[in-house]
Amino acid sequence: MFYDLIIIGAGPGGYNAALRAAHEGLKVLVAEKEKIGGVCLNEGCIPSKSLLYSAKIYDGLKHGEKYGVTAENPSISQDAVIDRKNKVVRTLVAGIKSSLKKAGVEVVSGNAVISGKEGDNFKVCIGDDAHTAKHLIIAAGSSAVIPPVSGVKEQYENGFVVTNREILDLREIPKRLVVIGGGVIGLEMASYYNSVGSEVTIIEMLPKIAGNTDAELSELLMKNYAKNGMTFKLGAKLTRVTDNSVIFEKDGVTQELPADKVLMSVGRSANTEGLGLDTLGILFDRKGIATDERCMTNVEGVYAVGDINGKIMLAHTAYREGEVAVNSIIGVKDIIDYSIIPSVIYTNPEIASVGDTEQSAADKGYDVSAMTLSMRFSGRYLAENDGGDGICKIIADKKSKTLLGVHMISNYASELIVSAGMMIQSKTAVEDLRKIVFPHPSVAEIIREGIFELNI
Ligand code: NAI
Repeated sequence: MFYDLIIIGAGPGGYNAALRAAHEGLKVLVAEKEKIGGVCLNEGCIPSKSLLYSAKIYDGLKHGEKYGVTAENPSISQDAVIDRKNKVVRTLVAGIKSSLKKAGVEVVSGNAVISGKEGDNFKVCIGDDAHTAKHLIIAAGSSAVIPPVSGVKEQYENGFVVTNREILDLREIPKRLVVIGGGVIGLEMASYYNSVGSEVTIIEMLPKIAGNTDAELSELLMKNYAKNGMTFKLGAKLTRVTDNSVIFEKDGVTQELPADKVLMSVGRSANTEGLGLDTLGILFDRKGIATDERCMTNVEGVYAVGDINGKIMLAHTAYREGEVAVNSIIGVKDIIDYSIIPSVIYTNPEIASVGDTEQSAADKGYDVSAMTLSMRFSGRYLAENDGGDGICKIIADKKSKTLLGVHMISNYASELIVSAGMMIQSKTAVEDLRKIVFPHPSVAEIIREGIFELNI
């Protein structure tokens, strides 16, 4: 069959691009070898948020006294939590399937392999069937890295070591959970299992958790979790995993930690293998498929969106990249701006960031005005966070008088960061931002407060 566009992978990058392209009148085929919705819907963003919400309710019951609420012997049923999570996932996946159907997108279940060109068109084989298309979008995602450390592969195969996929389906709460990698997945899952009663230890190679997050924010997060009983081993190198323990080296000393489960969350790698990229001479490296600002590969007409290009492995980046690729296909000028993509760690409290940190802005040569505010300036924050120590950082450029970055650790930070992103992306002058009316009381008012405090 001939199509205008074949998309490989039906995760957020692929299914969103398919919907947009169909909406523009293109004849679209999407191939998916596993589940519609990809990692995000089935074993990532959505299921983890479902678990974390259960944990939040449980925490509320356990620690309600300071708000005048006591509950006797609150308990959590891991089975019920997982069953509910599965229901949420089923509902969303069904929604995506129905949207694709309504839009007239053809969805084929199977492993798609690029097999060169037929005339001017690209050829893709799915099982025994060959299809051709004028354009291709590769949205084949990423997989959890299983590092080549002694014992890891074997213990993954026998279930002692798990990844983001299996940790979301554990029917039993491990008494001792060791998390390797204090990045986004590690922290979110550590947060859930800490709340539901596991003894959690995070082993992180770097001297800080949460990757590129502003150091003050990640320090605060660590302090919050340490208070809740979580243990952090920073600057620690994993050396071996046995069938009941994790061995690591810190400050030149080898230590052994007994465990009931080990979560491996040391990053993800692009699924470039087996796609037939070489048949078209598509350039890729260890990080992923090389793309330009239209998300196009080195081959005219072939695009790569989402985790597969290894740029910013976030579902919302994939959405946007898919839209940029479709626009390029239909001849609408559009490019991706990676500098304004927000990021969130859905811990409790949440961390959310968009744009430059004070350091990255200074490194780029901006004339920086930076402001750090305690979240306690917000009446609603104070009302809802007894003893809360959240902060909000606002970074602006004195010359253009616009915002460059906002970084916060607070409840609702994931929602508040949207407005901050809009302020940065629209390059609205600070004096105009000061005229925006915020609802009172809202935690978002902290941004308004910060904008008034800026020395601009
Ligand atoms: P990550 O890159 O966020 O963190 C991996 C961490 O593991 C790093 O801090 C790294 O220093 C550490 N590490 C690497 N090798 C190690 C070793 N041998 N021993 C100890 N520590 C080691 O990767 P993660 O957490 O696996 O997440 C993968 C992707 O999924 C990321 O791109 C992330 O952005 C995305 N994601 C996003 C979420 C969100 O937006 N809320 C939620 C979950 C995942």
